[in-house]
Amino acid sequence: MKKNLLLLTVLIFVACGVSAQKFSNLAPTPPMGWNSWNKFQCNVSETLIKETADAMVSTGLAEAGYQYVVIDDCWHGDRDSLGMIHENPETFPSGMKALADYIHSKNLKFGIYSCAGYKTCAGYPAGRGHEYQDAIQYAKWEVDYLKYDWCNSRALNAEGSYMTIRDALYAAGRPIVLSICEWGSNKPWKWASKYGQLWRTTPDIAPYFDQWKNSHGYDWDVMHIVDRQMSDSVRFYAGPNAWNDPDMLEVGNGMTVSEDRSHFTLWCILAAPLMLGNDLRNISQETLSILTNKEVIAIDQDPLGYEGWRISSENYVEIWVKPLKDSSWAVCFLNRSNQEKVYTIDWSKINVKDDFTMSILDPSSHVYNVRDVWNHKDCGTTAKSMSVTIPIHDVFCVVLK
Ligand code: GLA
Repeated sequence: MKKNLLLLTVLIFVACGVSAQKFSNLAPTPPMGWNSWNKFQCNVSETLIKETADAMVSTGLAEAGYQYVVIDDCWHGDRDSLGMIHENPETFPSGMKALADYIHSKNLKFGIYSCAGYKTCAGYPAGRGHEYQDAIQYAKWEVDYLKYDWCNSRALNAEGSYMTIRDALYAAGRPIVLSICEWGSNKPWKWASKYGQLWRTTPDIAPYFDQWKNSHGYDWDVMHIVDRQMSDSVRFYAGPNAWNDPDMLEVGNGMTVSEDRSHFTLWCILAAPLMLGNDLRNISQETLSILTNKEVIAIDQDPLGYEGWRISSENYVEIWVKPLKDSSWAVCFLNRSNQEKVYTIDWSKINVKDDFTMSILDPSSHVYNVRDVWNHKDCGTTAKSMSVTIPIHDVFCVVLK
């Protein structure tokens, strides 16, 4: 009798261990993919999503590492009499499972959106009170990624709400990346890694115009977001399976090529999730070459998972750094001014000793090779200073090895 009890206890422990393992390590590096919201808002349909999946493969984006295809708000139909959620039958006539199968057949992963409140931000039926049912439905549909928003949450407690959906996903048994989207309102960097793999740190990236730096000051343009990321020590909370999310990319949505390049570079320095927000079916060569630059993506995807930071800002030129594996460093110079800058880099003056990551960058006592990651060029070593011209709102970015 005692023996059987022991065996049962051992089996339960093993089963719990196996199921916990299933949900661990879902995002060892920042997730990469595409999300419908920035470009299409509520104009989503199964045709758009299938064409996007096709384009992700045919453009080489999938090969560069993008894998999640995420439908944001507005895919929803009604709940049935039992409370189960269904897709809008007009825009998704073949159903979500068929769409998931299509996406999986391309070797991509399928993502969906809901919200902790009683309605989504666009007013569709959301998760509150239906978390366990929704998680079962997502598991049946073979969803791989869930973005979970925070509209209409009224007096809900943020941490408690995300704990509930996390528990519901666990109970449904399918490993699903949980992207927490509560806009940084309750400092999620302090608690969200217990529940999800990424969490938004700010309100929405300026959606329509002036995405680089707008004049009203209340929209979250790219510059405003990167400044926000430098406060509250948010970088200390990032790491494998726990990413600060400064929101989805606006590359290809109307900024200049220089601004797109800087936006992308900064997101990589910040170890941010790289969720494309443009129309992949009509993508220019210039945009594509930014989004598929493997040397820059490697900075984002570095396995150490450190979030980089700004070490200086002088005359509108900022220096951003990120420690990488094998003691190498990404070092990027951002021209925030409205004029081209001719800038002389004296490497010996760029010394960093970071107590958090325990990493040291010390070109004054160690000679590094300098690799320009945008132009794919080796540029000598840090033994000599160098002069670079940085166009308006552009970056010069190197990896020091
Ligand atoms: C919120 C989110 C956005 C997007 C919209 C959809 O504003 O922060 O990213 O998901 O809702 O309605």
